[in-house]
Amino acid sequence: MDPKINKALAAPQYNGPLCLGSRTDPGVKMINILFVGDINGKTGRKALGALLPKLIREKSIDFIIANGENSAGGFGITEKTFEELLSFGIHAITLGNHVYDKKEIIPALDADGRLLRPANLPEGNPGKGSGIYTIEKNGKKINIGVISLLGRVFMNQVDDPFRTADRIIKEMQGKAAVIIVDMHAEATSEKLALGFYLDGRVSAVLGTHTHVQTADERVFAGGTAYMTDAGMTGPHDSVIGVKKEIIIRKFLTAMPEKFELAETDVHLNAAIISVDETTGKSTSIERINIRYE
Ligand SMILES: [Fe+2]
Ligand SMILES: [Fe+2]
Repeated sequence: MDPKINKALAAPQYNGPLCLGSRTDPGVKMINILFVGDINGKTGRKALGALLPKLIREKSIDFIIANGENSAGGFGITEKTFEELLSFGIHAITLGNHVYDKKEIIPALDADGRLLRPANLPEGNPGKGSGIYTIEKNGKKINIGVISLLGRVFMNQVDDPFRTADRIIKEMQGKAAVIIVDMHAEATSEKLALGFYLDGRVSAVLGTHTHVQTADERVFAGGTAYMTDAGMTGPHDSVIGVKKEIIIRKFLTAMPEKFELAETDVHLNAAIISVDETTGKSTSIERINIRYE
């Protein structure tokens, strides 16, 4: 983040309904983290690139996490789309069930710490499932841990996301007070249960994968911000990103179809969490849904 930009910004305002405490409490050092829901194809990348600078300025964003599992044509991520997302100022890119759709990304999964695959995939799989990132704010270095997890309900079976989270949180103790979890899962129950399970131990549990943003953002009693799904950054005149006519036909005929991405009604879907950088507790979460074109 350019420090000159940060300096010029006014104190952020939060008007959401579910806010415990304030971003501007004296003596409390807050950081603002933007978490972007599944970026879908070219239109999603274009919208993100166009809308991010203003969002970063207006909301005093210090750190950005984005789910990039659909950033390359809706399926997986390539070196090119990874580089493009990084050029927008994103610090960490999480993935999901589409992690290996584009095989060319496998070397980068091993080599680049800014790219995370779900941590609870089989042991020995390419890539890593968590990372610690250092930002500087007001001359102070702050470590932020990010964990990528995959759900198991109505999805392919993987290792236990709950116990995987336990293990990584333990490893991060003393290294990062702020920890953000991307829970990439289908079932609301599994995401909510994980959110409560980790309450007080991580700064936020944010869901991805369904591509439909939920309106249940809140901060739990222990200081963990939660939202069942951050939504999709991509074309919303679609069935979760794909041209709606194709998906309707598939339901009507039960025949195989070639998926094509939709291109209209493009939105940026995200959440902004304010976290006390010393305790790692969140004080607020704000739902973001901006129409691009
Ligand atoms: Fe997705
Ligand atoms: Fe997914």
